[in-house]
Amino acid sequence: MPEIWLAPLHGLTHYHFRNCLFRHYSGFNAAISPFVPVQETAKLNVRKWKDLAPENNTAVELIPQLMGIVPAHFADTMKVLHQEFGYARFNWNLGCPMAPIVRKRRGCGLMPFPDEVEAVVEAACQQPYRFSVKMRLGMHSPEEGVEIARRLNQYPLEFVAIHPRLGEQQYAGVPDWNALEELLSQLHHPVVYSGDIFQVTDYERLSARFPQIKTWLLGRGALRNPALAEEIKVIVTKKDDVSGINKFYDEKRTTGIGENELVRFNEFYEDLKQTLEDYRGASGSLSVLKELWHYFACFFQLTEEQLHSLLIIREPEKFDEAVREIFF
Ligand SMILES: Cc1cc2nc3c(=O)[nH]c(=O)nc-3n(C[C@H](O)[C@H](O)[C@H](O)COP(=O)(O)O)c2cc1C
Repeated sequence: MPEIWLAPLHGLTHYHFRNCLFRHYSGFNAAISPFVPVQETAKLNVRKWKDLAPENNTAVELIPQLMGIVPAHFADTMKVLHQEFGYARFNWNLGCPMAPIVRKRRGCGLMPFPDEVEAVVEAACQQPYRFSVKMRLGMHSPEEGVEIARRLNQYPLEFVAIHPRLGEQQYAGVPDWNALEELLSQLHHPVVYSGDIFQVTDYERLSARFPQIKTWLLGRGALRNPALAEEIKVIVTKKDDVSGINKFYDEKRTTGIGENELVRFNEFYEDLKQTLEDYRGASGSLSVLKELWHYFACFFQLTEEQLHSLLIIREPEKFDEAVREIFF
């Protein structure tokens, strides 16, 4: 059975979302948190990182993700997160392509600088924790990723998660699976795959092409269809049962959004809305819900116009009414 983890999506997959998702849908073995910045011990106040607090993460194991470039800050932050919250696994964000992050040589912005990458990994691996990296093919070229892989091979990393796009692509175009294949041939660590698994068939295609990959991150795919992890596991269970697989796809094709799927999504959505409202108030939660509706729109197969007319609504009650109309 593959391991399926929830990918970190900053601004979206924080603990309120994660907990609602895990309450209503199964299939996830773990999650990587959206990143938090590393700091020196004196400046750290991890109690304010509610997203990482153990009491907010009881459903599924969470691997905290760290962002930064100063080696000593990694050691400090990991130690404090271990002492305060008990974490012993940490992931480093070497893949964020957003311009303000890249400009500061953080995230994917550090991929063209292998010496700096190695300095962080060396310091982190001296700590008594499991350390891993999440990266892209490179910032500007896949050769950067291959050079980073060569450096990473020298250290005892737990895994390397790879999103097979370049940083300069952001999320445009398609992943480069040939470049991923080349990178995998150079990398000695276990690989966790991340990118563009939107349907069960995407998982099937990729797992057939990359049989050495055993762990799969679902990001936007899990937001578009919260049942995706479950559906993948159903298909894997039915692997030797051709008629069972055909039945699964036939049902999906013919019924569109099934009654049962709709009821479950509705329960999940109500829980999520209530949770966000309790925490941020009705208008505070509206902006988060709108972000999420960019993805939920795919579940309901909304047109651009339908989504647009939802997103321009400013009053929470009217927004809620429009959502009700989409549901029923
Ligand atoms: C809005 C958004 C926020 C993201 N935030 C993070 C993050 O905090 N850390 C990280 O490593 N990747 C982040 N990513 C990248 C995702 O984890 C993932 O690698 C990428 O979206 C490709 O996978 P997907 O197609 O399954 O979403 C983010 C992506 C999006 C779209």
